[in-house]
Formats: sequence, C-alpha cells, structure tokens
Amino acid sequence: MKKIGIIGWRGMVGSVLMDRMEYEKDFDLIDAYFFSTSQKGEKAPKHKSSSEVLLDANDITELEKMDIILTCQGGDYTNEIYPKLRSSGWDGYWIDAASSLRMKEDSTLVLDPVNLDVIKKAVASGKKDFIGPNCTVSLMLMAIGGLFNSGQVEWVTSMTYQAASGAGAKNMLELLDQMKVLGDLSDPAKSILEVDKSVATAMRDSNFPSKNFGAALAGALIPWIDVPVEAGQTKEEWKGVCETNKILETENMIPVDGTCVRMGAMRCHSQGLTIKMKNDIPISDIEALIKESNPWVKFVENNKEETLKYLSPTYATGTLEIPVGRVRKMNLGPEYINVFTVGDQLLWGAAEPLRRMLRILIETA
Ligand code: HSE
Repeated sequence: MKKIGIIGWRGMVGSVLMDRMEYEKDFDLIDAYFFSTSQKGEKAPKHKSSSEVLLDANDITELEKMDIILTCQGGDYTNEIYPKLRSSGWDGYWIDAASSLRMKEDSTLVLDPVNLDVIKKAVASGKKDFIGPNCTVSLMLMAIGGLFNSGQVEWVTSMTYQAASGAGAKNMLELLDQMKVLGDLSDPAKSILEVDKSVATAMRDSNFPSKNFGAALAGALIPWIDVPVEAGQTKEEWKGVCETNKILETENMIPVDGTCVRMGAMRCHSQGLTIKMKNDIPISDIEALIKESNPWVKFVENNKEETLKYLSPTYATGTLEIPVGRVRKMNLGPEYINVFTVGDQLLWGAAEPLRRMLRILIETA
C-alpha cells in the first residue's frame, strides 16, 4: 500500500476531509502517516495511522519517505516546505488545498467530475502536483460543467454570495456573535422603526464584534473578498477566470468575471450566474446539459416551492449535493441564461476534490 503523509488534518478543511475519508473507507486502502507542525511525538489518531505517533511536518527526511503528501495546512506551509522537499529530490505526489501552487505551470487543478480527462492526462505524463481549486470556482463548475463541456459557453458572470467559512473558523464564530448581538435587540414591545434604529446603531458601534471580518456581516454584507489585484478586481474575482480556464484546459480563454460578496451563510457559497451561450439553444437542452453535468447536481425547477425547499444553503449544507435552479432565458437576448446555484464550501469547495484525487492516484498511479 502507498504511504500517504497527511498534514493539516485538524483544521476545518482537514477535519471535513478526515470525516469523508473515514466514511468512504479510504484508510483501508492506504498506509496513513499523520504529521504535525507543533505536536511531533504525540499520539496519532487510532485505527487510521500506520505510526503510533505524530511525525514532524517540518522534517524533510520524514516527508521524503511518503509516496503521496496530502496537505490542508495552508499556503505558508506549502511555500516553506514544498520547495525544500522538491529540491531534496523527492518525486512523490503532492496534493494540496492551498492556493500557493495553483498557477504553477506544471500543477494540475483537480475537480474530477469536471476535468477527469485533464487529470488522467497529467498523471500519465508524469505530473506530480495536484491542487484543489478555489471553492467558488469548483462550485460553479460542479453546477454548470455540462454547459462548459458542450463548448457552447461564450462567457460567464458570477455574482457570489459567499459563506463565512470561506474566511475561516473564527469568522464563522464571529458571524454568530454578530447575530446574537442583533437578535437580542428584537423587542415586540417597541415599534419596528425603533428596533431597526437600535440594530443600525449596534452595527455601527466600534464594539460590535467584527475583528475578523472588519465590518458587520450579520444584517449586512461585504462586497470584498481577499486582496486587490489589477484592474479593480479582488483576488477572489481574478481566480474565477484563471482557475476556470486552467481546470478546463481551454484552448481559447473563456471570460469569467463578477463581484464576489461575503454574506451571512455558515458554509455554503451561492452564486447567481449570467451565462452567454454562443447560440440560441432551447431551454430544455440547456436544462438537460446541466442535469447531465455530474451525479451531484440537483436540478431545481424554476418555481417558488422548489426554490425555497432546495435552492438554499439550508438544504445544501453538509451535503455533496449541488442544487442548480432559477434556470431561464433572460430578457437580454435568447443566448443569455440565468442560473442560481449553491454548494457546501468545505465539501466540493475544498475537501472532496482532494479526497477523490488521492483515490485516483491510489487506483491508477
Ligand atoms: N477564498 C474563499 C472565500 C475560500 O474566501 O470564501 C477558499 O477558497
């Protein structure tokens, strides 16, 4: 069995990954070694680990013994360790949740329900670095991969509604703290305008819990995610076009752009998409392409009842389902399609593509 070094397994994405690996019995197929950046020598997780103790995640000679390294430790770790490990001559597979290596020329972005052919070609040609894409990009492609693969997409705008989890575990707690402060202001004895005024006052108060977000999210939204890049985009917006085209290995770049917005969901990112098709394709054919994208797409009929029930973070959270709905032609013209989609940011948006890449390597490499 292949030796797999696992790093960053206690963080939020790592914990979701461990749960999925356990559920899918992946540990039966591997010799797993658990690494830690700070707790070397402490007890490793029982039943899963081939070593009794945690190994040192900064020890290149220990890491070199692995056939595959799977890391959710984050970009700083990758930036520090990956170059040292490769320059030591290590020739194993590196599977990473962090963004550091995504745009490196010989890395492959992994989302096998959408780009299995790209992944297989990369493995066959001896590529060794397989990186999980940005969550918003993965979730968009899980929703409309069928449209992209039809070759009929001219461009896409993606207006996002991104959950607190994308910013980290502390931010999820901060969102709840903000909600609590506001929830406590509800008072049926007061007029709604009085209540509303006290809510606005609380949100503007310098003591409102917003150390992590830098602004009120509960009762509000934040139309800025990550750092600025060129041309007025944020880095999250820039990833949309770069990563989509890299995942699909497009010959001619398909433009993707939009505004990325943080809002008060816990761990499901949603997106409102405008898709410009190259031709006027009947809506029934568009629906069929979406439904055929992959087995996880849950097509939601464009009516209120189905939309409220299924096209929502409440439905999708903690599941691998990708609800896709509000599908219709837009007034803009017969080639313009409106779509809304939701997906769990920690599952298809982070852990699941990595877990499945590990399986692909175990089974084929
Ligand atoms: N950058 C994403 C977000 C999460 O802030 O929501 C990680 O892909």
